[in-house]
Amino acid sequence: MKVCTKIADFRRQIAPFRVAGETVGLVTTMGALHEGHLALVAAAKAQTARVVTTIFVNPTQFGDPKDLESYPRDDAGDLGKFEDAGVDAVFMPSVDEMYPKGDETIVETTRLANMLHGKVRPGHFRGVATVVTKLLNIAQPDAAYFGEKDWQQLQVIKRMVRDLHMPVRIIGVPTKREADGLAMSSRNQRLGPDDRAAAIVLSQALDKAEAAARKKATVSEIESLLRGTINGEPRASLRAVDIVWTDTLERAQGPLTRRAALLVSAEFGGVLLIDQREIAP
Ligand code: PAJ
Repeated sequence: MKVCTKIADFRRQIAPFRVAGETVGLVTTMGALHEGHLALVAAAKAQTARVVTTIFVNPTQFGDPKDLESYPRDDAGDLGKFEDAGVDAVFMPSVDEMYPKGDETIVETTRLANMLHGKVRPGHFRGVATVVTKLLNIAQPDAAYFGEKDWQQLQVIKRMVRDLHMPVRIIGVPTKREADGLAMSSRNQRLGPDDRAAAIVLSQALDKAEAAARKKATVSEIESLLRGTINGEPRASLRAVDIVWTDTLERAQGPLTRRAALLVSAEFGGVLLIDQREIAP
């Protein structure tokens, strides 16, 4: 497995794959790897001949400099995990390599970036769209893999790729979970034992909501059920419950007549966790 810090070097690693007619899959990460990230690598390996990955803690998607500073880093551990997973090449650029001096170009999905989580994290999805555009341009993969866990991020990237006619397939990969249902996340390691135990309320609330939806509950009934279940856990501070149509991301209403996404977020001991579930009518 080749590790590259320079764009030119990473491209040199990928070029022969393309000459040999091999398809290339890309998995982008900010490191601190867990099984969720490795599920993306596994999905890529199942579909493309070569898999390349990136580790870059992208400063432009963090609002709070303290959040950026405290982001967990484990380069040696991450490289070992990618190596074991059979990754062909890893790109670990510096901030200067990704954002050259005088850099002024941004990419923004103007509507999608500023709703839902984007409303409480201004600039976040612009940072994500900009860095993912750069990474796609650098690697030029046939397919790129993103987790459904970060549901709005996946929608932003799909919309951006469609709107800008970028020649890449964007593949969503189902959320990898702990045995008790908690969605895997780098943030989980910051939970104390009591908050870790309490955090399963998010996936439990989604299970209940899905069961209610199957029994033809309306959107407002499902929303009350989600709020009630999460508020029933004393350690959870509910941040948001959103139920949106997957095609428009507009707030869903009435009976579930088309595919909808349930998006929940809550803080546990100051750690913000998110979870999501798509449900078909
Ligand atoms: P990061 O949080 O490191 O996540 C990298 C990728 O792993 C994302 O596509 C994310 O959705 C996916 N992922 C995280 N937890 C997962 C889980 N439990 N199951 C399945 N997939 C999971 O998301 C980012 O980094 C950044 O915003 C990035 C796209 C790299 C741009 O900087």
